[in-house]
Amino acid sequence: MVGGKRSGGAGLVAGDIEEYLRRHKAKSLLRFITCGSVDDGKSSLIGRLLYESKMIFEDQFAALRDDSKKVGTRGGELDFALLVDGLAAEREQGITIDVAYRFFTTEKRKFIVADTPGHEQYTRNMVTGASTADLAVILIDARKGVLTQTRRHSYLAALLGIRHIVVAVNKMDLVGYSQEVFDTIERDYRDFAHQIKLEAITCIPVSAVVGDNITSRSTLTPWYSGPQLLEHLESVAVPDLAEGAAFRMPVQWVNRPNAEFRGFAGLIASGVVRRGDALRVLPSGRTSTVARVLNSEGEALLGRAGESVTLTLADEIDVSRGDVLAAADAPPAVANQFEATIVWMHDEPLLQGRAYLLKLGTKTVIATVAPIKYRVNVNTMEHLAAKKLDLNDIGVCGLELSTAIAFEPYSDSRVLGGFILIDRLTNNTVGAGLLHFALRRSQNVHWQALDVNKRARALLSHQKPCILWFTGLSGAGKSTIANLVEKQLHADGRHTYLLDGDNVRHGLNKDLGFTDEARVENIRRVAEVARLMVDSGLIVMVSFISPFRSERRMARALVEAGEFIEVFVDTPLAQAEARDVKGLYKKARRGELKNFTGIDSPYEAPEDPEIRLDTTRLTSEAAASRVIAYLREADIIDVGYDPGI
Ligand code: ADX
Repeated sequence: MVGGKRSGGAGLVAGDIEEYLRRHKAKSLLRFITCGSVDDGKSSLIGRLLYESKMIFEDQFAALRDDSKKVGTRGGELDFALLVDGLAAEREQGITIDVAYRFFTTEKRKFIVADTPGHEQYTRNMVTGASTADLAVILIDARKGVLTQTRRHSYLAALLGIRHIVVAVNKMDLVGYSQEVFDTIERDYRDFAHQIKLEAITCIPVSAVVGDNITSRSTLTPWYSGPQLLEHLESVAVPDLAEGAAFRMPVQWVNRPNAEFRGFAGLIASGVVRRGDALRVLPSGRTSTVARVLNSEGEALLGRAGESVTLTLADEIDVSRGDVLAAADAPPAVANQFEATIVWMHDEPLLQGRAYLLKLGTKTVIATVAPIKYRVNVNTMEHLAAKKLDLNDIGVCGLELSTAIAFEPYSDSRVLGGFILIDRLTNNTVGAGLLHFALRRSQNVHWQALDVNKRARALLSHQKPCILWFTGLSGAGKSTIANLVEKQLHADGRHTYLLDGDNVRHGLNKDLGFTDEARVENIRRVAEVARLMVDSGLIVMVSFISPFRSERRMARALVEAGEFIEVFVDTPLAQAEARDVKGLYKKARRGELKNFTGIDSPYEAPEDPEIRLDTTRLTSEAAASRVIAYLREADIIDVGYDPGI
């Protein structure tokens, strides 16, 4: 029995579902999205469509998920799987957005409509729904015409590879069913669409409230000879290109229940796979042949795009989650630097140079956005210079990954060319993007192995190289304490260097100010310099406010475990301000100095520093002694030390 709660008017019982699935299995499926705000009448439009198409069942995703768990092993669950798979893929990507998927069907076709909450101006819901859609219905209020939001949604739809656009010019009843109004809107829209290369456009005059041209032709628009909405949705041709393309499957997990069996499970992104096919594993490039194809019903002859399968291979080769299995003779390329379009979805801006997690397919790597080439003005399609992307901005950027990945341009593959960006600290999805192409910048630059290495240099100086990273407010005492530590180390014959914020800003970083993005770049450069100095065998002291956790974490990741010692010079703002050695706090309070840390620019205190120095209790000398004591305990400066690295 199929259980679970169910909403919708049809009041289905278990038997109906099986029968329903059998009957509707052969019908084609159209996935579409509606774009517009509540005021445009989006909810009424969907409501009317579902109601008037006498949908057989309509349900919220949660109920479907409950059900599909129970239906999971039964025959005929294919349609559920289709629906749930699409959603699972999005959940997999870590997108937690309130997009309701509604499933309905008519005699001619099945539909999944992504109903994104419309009251917000946020693009993120739109992006989520659009990434799997074949068609977008863009609502325009006949009284308002083409708005910035219409253009942004259309541009996103074009970017995300939606080929078919329906412009539903709504509220025609409120403009007296005027042909002139409709024609003007259609002309405006087509002008814009032409610029962004959207071609398959159908404009329909509708009234969602009255019901004109939704599921039946309205007598009030005799001048309109095109299709009504449902008729168009039922007949628009959406060829499924994925099946004809070369085989690709991102590995979701490695299934190894016992020593005899090792299967690679995933959702087939494109193509067909059969027993005996030669496959290539990417990025490693190793090859093998398919031994078995398994699906939820057991052994299968083949698997095709859109199906979840488990493959076993003839050879014991290394395959992990995140790898891509591909046709051996037509594999995707592998690279670690790209040009990409990024849609930013978070209140905190994307900063050039900051590291984020990038998830593409089933692979997650660290990515840095640099440089931001331009931001797009969605009204004029102008390219504007930018160092950051704000909420809803769309920009074209360089992207540098920590590891090479298998990819395809988004125009060839939504799965291997589409990605999301995740904040490393909060784990929130903060952006989405599409890969254009790989950059060749670093392809011809290789790492040169040198004979005299860190270990050799460190042995000579009898010390373990490391970074002592002093962070804290301006005037906290970082430089004073770092200076005392260096004096002591130097007196003991250690090889050291002190990188001080103010000093480095006189030379290497003299082009940088104090905006968030300038600070990110400031820290990136000094962290790279500190890394080189560690490689040269030095004990490096870095004394920078370094206000952001994200960049301190990036600096930590540049060196080996144990080589980064975060020293939090913990001085309350009131005390740093009271000292005000350089008179800068006074200036900042008077408004003469913008973006001053602690005043109108944030300081994110370390959560788990190796050393915390409470300067309300310790003198600078005592603080410095603490640091030296830590270095002894951590075996960094013990006499006769063998660096063992
Ligand atoms: S960081 O935030 O980018 O790490 P950094 O340590 O390099 O800052 O530089 C901080 C020093 O610059 C301060 O000690 C202060 O002397 C000076 N300074 C000038 N303007 C500012 C400002 N707006 N905010 C903070 N420090 C400033």
